[in-house]
Amino acid sequence: MDRSFCIAPMMRRTDRHFRYLSGLLSKKGILFTEMIHANAINRNEPERFLNNSDISNATVLQVGGSCPKELKKATLIANEYNYSEINLNLGCPSSKVQSGNFGAVLMKDVNLVKNCLSEMMKVSLKEVSVKIRLGVDDSDINKGLDYFIEELTKIGVNTFYVHARIALLKGLDPKENRTIPPLNYERVFQIKKDFKHLNVIINGGIEDFKMAKDKFQKLDGIMVGRAAYDLPFKLFDVDRIFYNSTEPNNSLISVIDQMFEYIDTLDFKDEIKTKFHMLNLFKGLKNAKKSRLLLLSNEKNDKIKSELKNILLANENQAA
Ligand SMILES: Cc1cc2nc3c(=O)[nH]c(=O)nc-3n(C[C@H](O)[C@H](O)[C@H](O)COP(=O)(O)O)c2cc1C
Repeated sequence: MDRSFCIAPMMRRTDRHFRYLSGLLSKKGILFTEMIHANAINRNEPERFLNNSDISNATVLQVGGSCPKELKKATLIANEYNYSEINLNLGCPSSKVQSGNFGAVLMKDVNLVKNCLSEMMKVSLKEVSVKIRLGVDDSDINKGLDYFIEELTKIGVNTFYVHARIALLKGLDPKENRTIPPLNYERVFQIKKDFKHLNVIINGGIEDFKMAKDKFQKLDGIMVGRAAYDLPFKLFDVDRIFYNSTEPNNSLISVIDQMFEYIDTLDFKDEIKTKFHMLNLFKGLKNAKKSRLLLLSNEKNDKIKSELKNILLANENQAA
């Protein structure tokens, strides 16, 4: 799997509807699900959580949890779905997640992490990877992190997505934990130098894709979260920049057409979620605000679609 460009897992954002939109903007970028707790997969209808049927891009299922048995069971269920990889979340700092003893807090207990991953790897038909931080709280991000990685490599973990900052579990909320601890890209470069055989994908604060391609070329890929969601049209550049694709992109007009065809297949709740993910598509264009109001309105979908297309055509005419 070519992980040159990955869209980061984001709760309430990278659901299957946003992934569908992402797939229309970039055919080659690697997509991630939101983190799904192993229990949710095991106890409820898995179809509700794991359905990925409309998406042809390689997609990584991210799971959360810290019970080896539950994670093994969830992995067995996930085998039935079309995911290309399964990833264990070791980076989420939210207090809810902490109190459930999963996410970033697990970086403090490498033996438990190894048990979880070993159970997953025993049954998974696909590669099992991890998403980590550089450390948590006052952990040693040099020798301590090396030890953590080394231990996981011993059980055969080969792919590390690294959010290039530590997580502070006390005093910062998840949003602050994505901005306040400083980014430390150098430490990620060092991981790749010290563990050449591993796939190391860097994450955190990447906004300029072209610049990132050059800056991080020694690594195995970049992972982008907020910049992909907030400015989704930037994803149009991904296949050309990262995968040397010469195929023409979909036009934004055809993306709108295809999104409304997709929306027609959804129930009301999913339709609202999908339109919400489209709100940023027109950012920077004339009448962007009108497009957002249309997507949030109760107008009939045919009317919304044709007005959105009119906005795009007016922008094209103005640019010509
Ligand atoms: C709204 C939101 C939800 C997130 N949910 C998850 C998640 O479910 N799993 C995860 O590993 N990281 C999650 N993250 C963290 C991102 O995957 C990523 O590591 C972080 O945003 C830094 O990358 P960025 O600077 O490119 O956004 C989330 C981030 C945001 C903004």
